[in-house]
Amino acid sequence: MDDRILRIDNATRHIRSKLSDRNPKIGIVLGSGLGSLADKIKEQTVIPYKEIPNFPVSTAIGHKGNFISGILGGKQVLAMQGRFHYYEGYPMETVTIAIRVMKRLGIEFLFVSNAAGACNPSYKVGDLVIISDHISMMPNPLVGPNMAEFGPRFPDMTSAYDQELQQLALSAADEMGLELKKGIYFGSTGPTYETPAEVRFYKSVGADLLGMSTVPEVIVARHCGIRVFGMSVVTNISNTCNKASILNDGDDVVEQANNAARRMSELFEKIISKIAIAETP
Ligand code: HPA
Repeated sequence: MDDRILRIDNATRHIRSKLSDRNPKIGIVLGSGLGSLADKIKEQTVIPYKEIPNFPVSTAIGHKGNFISGILGGKQVLAMQGRFHYYEGYPMETVTIAIRVMKRLGIEFLFVSNAAGACNPSYKVGDLVIISDHISMMPNPLVGPNMAEFGPRFPDMTSAYDQELQQLALSAADEMGLELKKGIYFGSTGPTYETPAEVRFYKSVGADLLGMSTVPEVIVARHCGIRVFGMSVVTNISNTCNKASILNDGDDVVEQANNAARRMSELFEKIISKIAIAETP
């Protein structure tokens, strides 16, 4: 048997045993500083990553390491409080293991969030941006023998970010009086932030948002047919010029993400309440 499948199945078995009779269809990945959404989840069961066989532990700032199962927006959800980044040194198989575990557990919809830098000049710090598409400068997580039981060798990526979920988000935001923007996420490995010349380059090829996560998870989710909604919180404006006084560091990112986390949490709750799924009790 493929070792990768064995690892996925071991982790799945552990989580399933903790979920007892729960059967969530909605998965959530909480990005840097956005873990407070977990506070809104009712009837929580917390499953620490460190207790899951074959599971990594997240080392990035602003990331805890738990799955949280419970109820959000009237639906069963399974949230990841903390994700794994390529820059932490994990192979892509490990970065994305949770997505395949979620698929095994029956997840059909994935909400991914992240903190991002903005290179679109109309964005402000604290903006919530719907990810409409991405450009990747990261290694593709599907390189290697295809896991055919999850999906095809050459997956389609024309609708990586689900149109219907984006519409639901816009109508939810409208009801809440919340302004949302839309943009293209440019994923690179990090851990360095971009040089001003790189920011100008990425901007020139169509990027609005710059980040170091999300793309691998979205690729793996689409490979196995999970529908994806992605949202970035703008935590900093990416510098297009070299000014000595401008410093980009992890602390301002986490602080800004915390401020926007409350609005994003309310939005996710509202979108989830609007998703039509057949709930199995
Ligand atoms: N660049 C890359 N990743 C990020 C940034 C950024 O400016 N801000 C938060 N994550």
